[in-house]
Amino acid sequence: MDTTQSSPQARPTVGVVRETNDGERRVALVPKSVAALIGKGMDVVVESGAGLGALIPDDLYKEAGATIGDAWSADVVLKVAAPNAEETARLRAGQKLIGFLAPRTNESGIAALADAGVEAYAVEAIPRISRAQVMDALSSQANVAGYKAVIVAASESTRYFPMLTTAAGTVKPATVLVLGVGVAGLQALATAKRLGGRVTGYDVRPEVADQVRSVGAQWLDLGIDAAGEGGYARQLTEAEQAQQQQALEDAIKGFDVVITTALVPGRPAPRLVTAAAVEGMKPGSVIVDLAGETGGNCEITEPGQTVVKHGVTICSPLNLPATMPEHSSELYAKNLYALVELMLDENGAVAPDFDDEVLAAACVTRKEATA
Ligand code: NAI
Repeated sequence: MDTTQSSPQARPTVGVVRETNDGERRVALVPKSVAALIGKGMDVVVESGAGLGALIPDDLYKEAGATIGDAWSADVVLKVAAPNAEETARLRAGQKLIGFLAPRTNESGIAALADAGVEAYAVEAIPRISRAQVMDALSSQANVAGYKAVIVAASESTRYFPMLTTAAGTVKPATVLVLGVGVAGLQALATAKRLGGRVTGYDVRPEVADQVRSVGAQWLDLGIDAAGEGGYARQLTEAEQAQQQQALEDAIKGFDVVITTALVPGRPAPRLVTAAAVEGMKPGSVIVDLAGETGGNCEITEPGQTVVKHGVTICSPLNLPATMPEHSSELYAKNLYALVELMLDENGAVAPDFDDEVLAAACVTRKEATA
Protein backbone atom coordinates (compact mmCIF):
# COMPACT_ATOMS: atom_id res chain seq x y z
CA MET A 1 0.00 0.00 0.00
CA ASP A 2 1.27 3.47 -0.81
CA THR A 3 1.17 5.43 2.43
CA THR A 4 2.80 8.54 1.02
CA GLN A 5 -0.50 10.13 0.04
CA SER A 6 -2.72 11.04 2.91
CA SER A 7 -6.39 10.91 2.05
CA PRO A 8 -8.70 13.13 4.12
CA GLN A 9 -9.90 10.01 5.99
CA ALA A 10 -6.50 8.55 6.87
CA ARG A 11 -4.62 10.05 9.80
CA PRO A 12 -1.31 11.25 8.41
CA THR A 13 1.74 9.84 10.16
CA VAL A 14 4.76 11.64 11.56
CA GLY A 15 7.96 9.68 12.22
CA VAL A 16 10.65 10.52 14.76
CA VAL A 17 13.85 8.71 13.89
CA ARG A 18 16.93 8.02 15.98
CA GLU A 19 19.88 10.34 15.33
CA THR A 20 23.13 8.61 14.37
CA ASN A 21 25.76 11.36 14.19
CA ASP A 22 28.53 11.10 16.79
CA GLY A 23 27.65 13.08 19.91
CA GLU A 24 24.17 14.01 18.68
CA ARG A 25 21.87 13.63 21.67
CA ARG A 26 18.92 15.67 20.48
CA VAL A 27 15.65 14.24 19.24
CA ALA A 28 13.18 15.87 16.85
CA LEU A 29 10.04 15.58 19.02
CA VAL A 30 9.49 15.39 22.77
CA PRO A 31 6.38 13.77 24.29
CA LYS A 32 4.59 17.09 24.70
CA SER A 33 4.85 17.87 20.98
CA VAL A 34 3.85 14.28 20.15
CA ALA A 35 0.62 14.81 22.09
CA ALA A 36 0.09 18.15 20.35
CA LEU A 37 0.43 16.59 16.87
CA ILE A 38 -1.92 13.76 17.84
CA GLY A 39 -4.34 16.49 18.91
CA LYS A 40 -4.08 17.85 15.37
CA GLY A 41 -5.27 14.52 13.96
CA MET A 42 -1.90 12.92 13.18
CA ASP A 43 -0.40 9.61 14.29
CA VAL A 44 3.16 9.64 15.59
CA VAL A 45 5.61 6.75 15.24
CA VAL A 46 8.87 6.92 17.18
CA GLU A 47 11.89 4.75 16.39
CA SER A 48 12.85 2.80 19.51
CA GLY A 49 15.53 4.64 21.50
CA ALA A 50 15.14 7.89 19.54
CA GLY A 51 14.81 9.93 22.74
CA LEU A 52 17.40 8.18 24.89
CA GLY A 53 20.12 10.79 24.32
CA ALA A 54 17.71 13.42 25.59
CA LEU A 55 16.73 11.16 28.53
CA ILE A 56 13.31 10.35 27.06
CA PRO A 57 12.54 6.61 27.21
CA ASP A 58 10.16 4.97 24.71
CA ASP A 59 7.54 4.62 27.46
CA LEU A 60 7.14 8.38 27.78
CA TYR A 61 6.44 8.62 24.05
CA LYS A 62 3.91 5.80 24.37
CA GLU A 63 2.21 7.58 27.25
CA ALA A 64 1.93 10.66 25.02
CA GLY A 65 0.10 8.51 22.43
CA ALA A 66 2.91 7.55 20.03
CA THR A 67 3.63 4.05 18.82
CA ILE A 68 7.16 2.69 18.79
CA GLY A 69 7.99 1.31 15.37
CA ASP A 70 9.19 2.06 11.86
CA ALA A 71 9.39 5.85 11.89
CA TRP A 72 11.15 5.90 8.50
CA SER A 73 7.98 4.97 6.62
CA ALA A 74 5.86 7.83 8.01
CA ASP A 75 4.36 10.48 5.73
CA VAL A 76 6.50 13.15 7.41
CA VAL A 77 9.88 12.13 8.81
CA LEU A 78 11.38 14.45 11.42
CA LYS A 79 15.13 14.60 12.08
CA VAL A 80 17.70 16.77 13.73
CA ALA A 81 20.76 16.28 11.50
CA ALA A 82 20.74 15.73 7.73
CA PRO A 83 20.36 12.04 6.83
CA ASN A 84 23.46 10.16 5.72
CA ALA A 85 23.43 8.10 2.50
CA GLU A 86 22.18 4.98 4.26
CA GLU A 87 19.35 6.90 5.89
CA THR A 88 18.39 8.62 2.65
CA ALA A 89 18.11 5.17 1.07
CA ARG A 90 15.36 4.37 3.60
CA LEU A 91 13.18 7.23 2.32
CA ARG A 92 10.62 6.91 -0.47
CA ALA A 93 9.45 9.22 -3.21
CA GLY A 94 6.75 11.58 -1.98
CA GLN A 95 7.75 11.38 1.68
CA LYS A 96 8.36 14.63 3.48
CA LEU A 97 11.50 15.15 5.52
CA ILE A 98 12.26 18.03 7.90
CA GLY A 99 15.60 18.71 9.58
CA PHE A 100 18.85 20.67 9.63
CA LEU A 101 19.67 19.67 6.06
CA ALA A 102 22.45 22.25 5.52
CA PRO A 103 21.14 23.30 2.10
CA ARG A 104 24.04 25.69 1.40
CA THR A 105 26.84 23.24 2.12
CA ASN A 106 25.42 19.72 1.81
CA GLU A 107 25.09 19.68 -1.98
CA SER A 108 25.44 15.92 -2.43
CA GLY A 109 23.01 15.14 0.39
CA ILE A 110 20.38 17.46 -1.04
CA ALA A 111 20.91 16.02 -4.53
CA ALA A 112 20.42 12.49 -3.16
CA LEU A 113 17.14 13.55 -1.52
CA ALA A 114 16.01 15.14 -4.79
CA ASP A 115 16.93 11.97 -6.72
CA ALA A 116 14.94 9.89 -4.26
CA GLY A 117 11.90 12.13 -4.86
CA VAL A 118 11.78 13.19 -1.21
CA GLU A 119 10.09 16.50 -0.44
CA ALA A 120 12.69 17.94 1.92
CA TYR A 121 12.39 20.96 4.18
CA ALA A 122 15.52 22.55 5.63
CA VAL A 123 14.88 24.43 8.86
CA GLU A 124 17.85 26.69 8.06
CA ALA A 125 15.92 28.05 5.07
CA ILE A 126 12.90 29.21 7.07
CA PRO A 127 12.74 32.97 6.51
CA ARG A 128 13.52 35.27 9.46
CA ILE A 129 10.09 36.91 9.52
CA SER A 130 7.92 37.54 12.59
CA ARG A 131 5.31 34.92 11.65
CA ALA A 132 7.98 32.23 11.39
CA GLN A 133 9.73 32.96 14.68
CA VAL A 134 8.02 30.02 16.38
CA MET A 135 9.52 27.72 13.70
CA ASP A 136 12.97 29.30 13.78
CA ALA A 137 15.16 26.37 14.74
CA LEU A 138 18.37 28.24 13.91
CA SER A 139 17.45 30.71 16.65
CA SER A 140 16.27 28.19 19.23
CA GLN A 141 19.49 26.21 18.91
CA ALA A 142 21.78 29.26 18.64
CA ASN A 143 20.33 30.45 21.93
CA VAL A 144 21.42 27.21 23.57
CA ALA A 145 24.89 27.51 22.02
CA GLY A 146 25.31 31.11 23.18
CA TYR A 147 24.38 30.22 26.74
CA LYS A 148 26.59 27.14 26.86
CA ALA A 149 29.57 28.98 25.36
CA VAL A 150 29.66 31.19 28.45
CA ILE A 151 29.43 28.19 30.76
CA VAL A 152 32.36 26.60 28.89
CA ALA A 153 34.32 29.86 29.18
CA ALA A 154 33.61 30.14 32.91
CA SER A 155 34.60 26.53 33.40
CA GLU A 156 37.92 26.95 31.55
CA SER A 157 38.72 30.30 33.13
CA THR A 158 41.27 30.59 35.89
CA ARG A 159 39.36 33.66 37.13
CA TYR A 160 35.99 34.54 38.58
CA PHE A 161 33.30 36.13 36.41
CA PRO A 162 31.63 38.26 39.13
CA MET A 163 33.18 40.97 41.21
CA LEU A 164 33.62 39.64 44.74
CA THR A 165 34.30 41.56 47.90
CA THR A 166 35.44 39.17 50.57
CA ALA A 167 37.42 39.26 53.81
CA ALA A 168 40.29 37.82 51.80
CA GLY A 169 40.20 40.67 49.32
CA THR A 170 38.32 42.04 46.35
CA VAL A 171 38.21 40.32 42.98
CA LYS A 172 37.60 42.37 39.85
CA PRO A 173 34.84 41.19 37.47
CA ALA A 174 35.91 39.37 34.32
CA THR A 175 35.83 41.40 31.15
CA VAL A 176 33.99 39.53 28.39
CA LEU A 177 33.97 40.43 24.70
CA VAL A 178 31.45 38.82 22.36
CA LEU A 179 32.30 39.08 18.66
CA GLY A 180 29.28 38.62 16.41
CA VAL A 181 26.02 39.51 18.10
CA GLY A 182 23.31 37.51 16.34
CA VAL A 183 21.12 35.16 18.33
CA ALA A 184 23.98 33.19 19.94
CA GLY A 185 26.02 36.29 20.65
CA LEU A 186 23.17 38.14 22.29
CA GLN A 187 22.44 35.17 24.53
CA ALA A 188 26.16 34.92 25.37
CA LEU A 189 26.21 38.59 26.37
CA ALA A 190 23.11 38.20 28.53
CA THR A 191 24.44 35.04 30.19
CA ALA A 192 27.89 36.50 30.87
CA LYS A 193 26.21 39.57 32.34
CA ARG A 194 24.08 37.39 34.63
CA LEU A 195 27.26 35.65 35.80
CA GLY A 196 28.59 39.06 36.80
CA GLY A 197 31.02 39.73 33.97
CA ARG A 198 31.65 43.18 32.50
CA VAL A 199 30.44 42.60 28.96
CA THR A 200 31.05 44.19 25.57
CA GLY A 201 29.59 43.24 22.20
CA TYR A 202 30.81 43.83 18.65
CA ASP A 203 29.24 43.20 15.27
CA VAL A 204 29.49 44.52 11.73
CA ARG A 205 25.76 45.25 11.65
CA PRO A 206 25.40 48.63 13.39
CA GLU A 207 21.70 48.03 14.13
CA VAL A 208 22.81 45.48 16.72
CA ALA A 209 24.22 48.20 19.00
CA ASP A 210 20.87 48.87 20.67
CA GLN A 211 20.29 45.15 21.31
CA VAL A 212 23.75 44.93 22.88
CA ARG A 213 23.01 47.86 25.17
CA SER A 214 19.60 46.40 26.04
CA VAL A 215 21.26 43.46 27.83
CA GLY A 216 23.50 45.79 29.82
CA ALA A 217 26.57 45.39 27.63
CA GLN A 218 28.82 48.00 26.07
CA TRP A 219 29.02 48.38 22.30
CA LEU A 220 32.43 48.24 20.64
CA ASP A 221 32.37 50.44 17.56
CA LEU A 222 35.07 49.76 14.98
CA GLY A 223 33.39 51.79 12.25
CA ILE A 224 32.71 48.92 9.82
CA ASP A 225 29.20 48.53 8.41
CA ALA A 226 28.65 45.21 6.63
CA ALA A 227 24.92 44.65 6.97
CA GLY A 228 23.82 42.26 4.20
CA GLU A 229 20.60 40.66 2.99
CA GLY A 230 17.83 39.31 5.23
CA GLY A 231 19.31 40.57 8.51
CA TYR A 232 22.60 38.69 7.94
CA ALA A 233 26.09 40.13 7.55
CA ARG A 234 27.88 40.29 4.19
CA GLN A 235 31.45 39.14 3.71
CA LEU A 236 33.99 41.91 4.33
CA THR A 237 36.30 43.13 1.59
CA GLU A 238 39.98 42.29 2.09
CA ALA A 239 40.71 45.87 3.15
CA GLU A 240 37.85 45.89 5.66
CA GLN A 241 38.97 42.55 7.03
CA ALA A 242 42.53 43.79 7.56
CA GLN A 243 41.22 46.95 9.22
CA GLN A 244 38.94 44.86 11.46
CA GLN A 245 41.65 42.40 12.46
CA GLN A 246 44.02 45.23 13.37
CA ALA A 247 41.40 47.08 15.41
CA LEU A 248 40.36 43.90 17.19
CA GLU A 249 43.98 42.99 17.90
CA ASP A 250 44.23 46.19 19.91
CA ALA A 251 40.81 45.82 21.58
CA ILE A 252 41.10 42.14 22.54
CA LYS A 253 44.20 42.62 24.72
CA GLY A 254 42.14 43.96 27.59
CA PHE A 255 39.63 41.08 27.83
CA ASP A 256 39.70 38.00 30.05
CA VAL A 257 37.19 36.12 27.90
CA VAL A 258 36.43 36.38 24.19
CA ILE A 259 33.46 34.51 22.73
CA THR A 260 33.20 34.49 18.95
CA THR A 261 30.02 33.64 17.05
CA ALA A 262 30.51 35.48 13.73
CA LEU A 263 29.07 33.77 10.67
CA VAL A 264 28.27 34.74 7.11
CA PRO A 265 25.71 32.36 5.53
CA GLY A 266 27.27 29.89 3.12
CA ARG A 267 30.84 31.23 3.59
CA PRO A 268 33.80 30.15 5.72
CA ALA A 269 33.73 31.84 9.14
CA PRO A 270 35.28 35.33 9.06
CA ARG A 271 38.72 35.51 10.70
CA LEU A 272 38.42 38.05 13.50
CA VAL A 273 41.06 36.98 16.01
CA THR A 274 44.58 36.65 14.62
CA ALA A 275 47.38 34.64 16.22
CA ALA A 276 48.98 37.97 17.13
CA ALA A 277 45.79 39.01 18.94
CA VAL A 278 45.90 35.79 20.97
CA GLU A 279 49.54 36.45 21.81
CA GLY A 280 48.58 39.89 23.07
CA MET A 281 46.07 38.48 25.60
CA LYS A 282 46.95 37.88 29.24
CA PRO A 283 47.90 34.26 30.01
CA GLY A 284 44.92 32.52 31.61
CA SER A 285 42.45 34.23 29.30
CA VAL A 286 39.92 32.12 27.40
CA ILE A 287 38.56 32.20 23.85
CA VAL A 288 35.45 30.18 23.01
CA ASP A 289 35.10 30.00 19.24
CA LEU A 290 31.59 28.95 18.21
CA ALA A 291 32.42 29.12 14.51
CA GLY A 292 34.62 25.98 14.51
CA GLU A 293 32.25 24.11 12.18
CA THR A 294 33.02 26.57 9.39
CA GLY A 295 36.73 26.97 10.16
CA GLY A 296 36.68 29.21 13.23
CA ASN A 297 36.76 32.96 13.89
CA CYS A 298 40.18 32.63 15.51
CA GLU A 299 43.20 31.95 13.32
CA ILE A 300 44.58 29.28 15.64
CA THR A 301 41.35 27.54 16.61
CA GLU A 302 41.41 23.77 16.28
CA PRO A 303 37.77 22.86 15.59
CA GLY A 304 36.40 20.45 18.18
CA GLN A 305 39.47 20.84 20.43
CA THR A 306 40.56 22.79 23.48
CA VAL A 307 44.15 23.96 23.13
CA VAL A 308 46.40 26.30 25.09
CA LYS A 309 48.45 28.70 22.97
CA HIS A 310 50.52 31.61 24.29
CA GLY A 311 48.98 30.77 27.69
CA VAL A 312 45.47 31.38 26.33
CA THR A 313 42.91 28.56 26.35
CA ILE A 314 41.12 28.33 23.00
CA CYS A 315 38.04 26.11 22.95
CA SER A 316 36.12 25.29 19.83
CA PRO A 317 33.25 23.07 20.89
CA LEU A 318 31.19 21.64 18.04
CA ASN A 319 27.43 21.21 18.20
CA LEU A 320 26.94 22.74 21.66
CA PRO A 321 23.13 22.35 21.47
CA ALA A 322 23.65 18.57 21.55
CA THR A 323 25.29 18.96 24.98
CA MET A 324 22.02 20.27 26.44
CA PRO A 325 19.71 17.75 24.76
CA GLU A 326 16.71 18.12 27.06
CA HIS A 327 16.06 21.78 26.46
CA SER A 328 17.44 21.96 22.94
CA SER A 329 15.14 19.06 21.92
CA GLU A 330 12.16 20.64 23.66
CA LEU A 331 12.67 23.91 21.79
CA TYR A 332 13.41 22.21 18.47
CA ALA A 333 10.30 20.06 18.86
CA LYS A 334 8.21 23.19 19.30
CA ASN A 335 9.74 24.60 16.10
CA LEU A 336 8.94 21.42 14.17
CA TYR A 337 5.43 21.18 15.57
CA ALA A 338 4.71 24.67 14.26
CA LEU A 339 6.14 23.85 10.82
CA VAL A 340 4.18 20.59 10.51
CA GLU A 341 1.02 22.38 11.63
CA LEU A 342 1.56 24.89 8.83
CA MET A 343 1.61 22.02 6.31
CA LEU A 344 -1.85 20.80 7.24
CA ASP A 345 -4.90 21.83 5.22
CA GLU A 346 -8.34 22.47 6.68
CA ASN A 347 -9.11 18.72 6.56
CA GLY A 348 -6.01 17.86 8.54
CA ALA A 349 -4.23 16.38 5.50
CA VAL A 350 -0.53 17.08 4.90
CA ALA A 351 -0.86 19.41 1.93
CA PRO A 352 1.75 22.18 1.99
CA ASP A 353 0.63 25.36 0.29
CA PHE A 354 3.60 26.65 -1.67
CA ASP A 355 2.03 30.07 -1.94
CA ASP A 356 3.02 30.34 1.72
CA GLU A 357 6.43 32.03 1.71
CA VAL A 358 7.65 30.07 4.74
CA LEU A 359 6.94 26.67 3.17
CA ALA A 360 8.14 27.76 -0.26
CA ALA A 361 11.47 28.93 1.21
CA ALA A 362 11.97 25.98 3.55
CA CYS A 363 11.28 23.35 0.88
CA VAL A 364 14.61 22.52 -0.78
CA THR A 365 13.59 19.54 -2.92
CA ARG A 366 10.23 18.73 -4.43
CA LYS A 367 8.66 17.45 -7.60
CA GLU A 368 7.22 20.29 -9.64
CA ALA A 369 3.47 19.93 -10.03
CA THR A 370 2.52 18.81 -13.56
CA ALA A 371 -0.30 20.60 -15.32
P1 NAI B 1 24.54 34.48 12.10
O1 NAI B 1 24.64 33.22 12.90
O2 NAI B 1 24.46 34.38 10.62
O3 NAI B 1 25.82 35.39 12.43
C1 NAI B 1 26.16 35.72 13.75
C2 NAI B 1 26.57 37.16 13.82
O4 NAI B 1 27.87 37.34 13.26
C3 NAI B 1 25.65 38.12 13.07
O5 NAI B 1 25.13 39.07 13.97
C4 NAI B 1 26.57 38.76 12.03
O6 NAI B 1 26.24 40.12 11.76
C5 NAI B 1 27.91 38.63 12.69
N1 NAI B 1 29.08 38.76 11.80
C6 NAI B 1 29.27 38.27 10.56
N2 NAI B 1 30.47 38.63 10.08
C7 NAI B 1 31.08 39.37 11.05
C8 NAI B 1 32.33 40.02 11.15
N3 NAI B 1 33.22 40.00 10.16
N4 NAI B 1 32.59 40.69 12.29
C9 NAI B 1 31.70 40.74 13.31
N5 NAI B 1 30.51 40.13 13.27
C10 NAI B 1 30.19 39.46 12.15
O7 NAI B 1 23.36 35.38 12.63
P2 NAI B 1 22.02 34.93 13.33
O8 NAI B 1 22.25 34.73 14.76
O9 NAI B 1 21.44 33.80 12.56
O10 NAI B 1 21.13 36.24 13.16
C11 NAI B 1 20.99 36.84 11.89
C12 NAI B 1 19.97 37.93 11.94
O11 NAI B 1 18.66 37.43 11.94
C13 NAI B 1 20.03 38.84 13.14
O12 NAI B 1 19.79 40.15 12.67
C14 NAI B 1 18.90 38.42 14.00
O13 NAI B 1 18.48 39.45 14.85
C15 NAI B 1 17.91 38.13 12.92
N6 NAI B 1 16.84 37.25 13.38
C16 NAI B 1 15.54 37.59 13.07
C17 NAI B 1 14.50 36.80 13.47
C18 NAI B 1 13.11 37.15 13.12
O14 NAI B 1 12.79 38.29 12.93
N7 NAI B 1 12.27 36.15 13.02
C19 NAI B 1 14.75 35.56 14.22
C20 NAI B 1 16.14 35.31 14.47
C21 NAI B 1 17.13 36.12 14.03
